[in-house]
Amino acid sequence: MNYIDNLFNLNGKIALVTGACGQLGSAICKSLQQAGAKVVGTDIKLPAEDGDIDLKELDITNKADVESTFKAVHDKYGSLDVLINNAGVSTFEKFEERPEESFDWVMDVNLKGTFFCIQSYVNLLDQQKQESGAIVNIGSVFGVVSPDFRNYVDLDRKNSEVYGATKAGVIHMTKYFAVHLAERNIRVNAVSPGGIFNPENPQGENFIKNYSDRVPMGRMANDEDMLGAILYLSGDAAKYTTGQNIVIDGGMSSW
Ligand SMILES: NC(=O)c1ccc[n+]([C@@H]2O[C@H](COP(=O)([O-])OP(=O)(O)OC[C@H]3O[C@@H](n4cnc5c(N)ncnc54)[C@H](O)[C@@H]3O)[C@@H](O)[C@H]2O)c1
Repeated sequence: MNYIDNLFNLNGKIALVTGACGQLGSAICKSLQQAGAKVVGTDIKLPAEDGDIDLKELDITNKADVESTFKAVHDKYGSLDVLINNAGVSTFEKFEERPEESFDWVMDVNLKGTFFCIQSYVNLLDQQKQESGAIVNIGSVFGVVSPDFRNYVDLDRKNSEVYGATKAGVIHMTKYFAVHLAERNIRVNAVSPGGIFNPENPQGENFIKNYSDRVPMGRMANDEDMLGAILYLSGDAAKYTTGQNIVIDGGMSSW
């Protein structure tokens, strides 16, 4: 295998993905597997039928379960090279009517859950004397800029302030831990998607049009648009890259 192929494959690496059964999580699992990694997908809710990804039930807001699941994966595979913090939720009421529980839920999953995963991963690597690791956090363009509400004409699911605040928090934690973990050779980066088209449950026609008109590249994102950056940040091609947030939004946040 030549030098470039070596940079861009994940042969022999063990990767754990949270929120692995959702839209983007399933695509991430498949792509990591196709790149050569052994993939363990975790999610709060698993599908009834098994596929070809090793799936484990895990609620990332439960610290003890995060610790024991990560340890079980390390025990089974002998390593945990890549952690993809993909699980995330949002809440869609009008902010004037947002109940405290909705706010807490988004904070708990997106921020505290992501923190528990990073904390457990780093402690596990320390205990196991594993000398390197890579973390990719999934942020959002709405952790960088506010949503344009003029887009949401036929969509009741307005993007919330708490979602954006938690994603800004995830992007910030990415920088914090990149700095903190550099000397342990654990790289921490983020990928922040723009609005991803959902083929199973398409967003409203007017929303898709209005949103696409706001994007310099003229369309919503697809899952596949995120995969190249996630694979890059997971592997050796990015061995001197840490603390970065790659915003993949067709240019929307650039104007
Ligand atoms: N879809 C988009 O347009 C978009 C845009 C920017 C960022 N993102 C981010 O991408 C990530 C994936 O989103 P998606 O669009 O695939 O959403 P999704 O709802 O399809 O998937 C999210 C997954 O997370 C799981 N999950 C929820 N709570 C959990 C918990 N407590 N513990 C473990 N798993 C839990 C869900 O069961 C689900 O499978 C999220 O972090 C999201 O914020 C999505």
